[in-house]
Amino acid sequence: MKLSKLTTSIIGSTLLLGASLPLSAASVGEIAKSCDECHGKNGVTKDEVVPTIAGASAAYLKDTMEAFKSGKRKGEEYKHDGKTSDMNKVAKKLSDAEIEAIAEYYAKKPYVAFNNHTDPKLVKKGKKIWKRKCKKCHGDNGMDPEDDAGIPGGQPLKYLLNSMEHFANKTRPMPKKMRKKFKKLKEKDRIAVAHFFAAQK
Ligand code: HEC
Ligand code: HEC
Repeated sequence: MKLSKLTTSIIGSTLLLGASLPLSAASVGEIAKSCDECHGKNGVTKDEVVPTIAGASAAYLKDTMEAFKSGKRKGEEYKHDGKTSDMNKVAKKLSDAEIEAIAEYYAKKPYVAFNNHTDPKLVKKGKKIWKRKCKKCHGDNGMDPEDDAGIPGGQPLKYLLNSMEHFANKTRPMPKKMRKKFKKLKEKDRIAVAHFFAAQK
């Protein structure tokens, strides 16, 4: 069979594009299964030190996975089924195409808030701080995925308190403009905002 010039060029470019073709749904599903082992079914956490990843924006999830892959953001060690791992090890195993696909996958899953026990006095105080210093980038009480800044609203309280400490001791990077507001908070202010975010449903 003689191939037309057009067909040969289509086959040629398909071969070239091969590496960046979208992953099959089956292989994304396989990756997601491994994420769900720690993050909970459909990316909705049941453990207070693990964040829910369902429903965050694809851009946030992709950037975050890249930050874990490069080591810019340090992951906490976490033990599951007798094995210990962390997000740096998890992300290093993924290709750029896999990171993009898994980000798209979880962005489409529904976000479900964690059932936290919060202190109403701290929630009230935290809300005032959020309004003045955080609302601009964490809209809708920290529950707007469109901010591309995670979904702090409704995350487990323990995860939020840990995150605040990582920001404060600089083991987790944050945008310059967030640091400007964040660095003025005292430890008890950080705890209050964590309670405010944790109280969101
Ligand atoms: C061994 C358990 C484990 C596995 C497996 C795992 N994670 Fe995580 N993940 C964690 C823990 C614990 C944290 C919190 C880390 C921290 O803040 O130090 C986390 C944090 C994250 C975050 C940050 C969320 C935020 O709001 O900033 C993202 C995104 C994430 N994981 C995505 C994934 C994806 C995608 C997979 C699968 C490819 C995955 N994780 C597999 C334990 C795990
Ligand atoms: C200029 C915009 C901006 C401001 C202002 C800001 N943030 Fe952020 N915040 C971000 C971005 C962007 C991220 C994602 C950082 C990353 O890539 O890990 C973030 C992440 C977070 C997270 C982690 C969410 C998660 O799912 O892990 C918390 C908690 C948080 N911010 C708290 C605050 C608090 C408290 C304030 C107010 C004192 C504040 N932020 C003000 C932009 C902002």
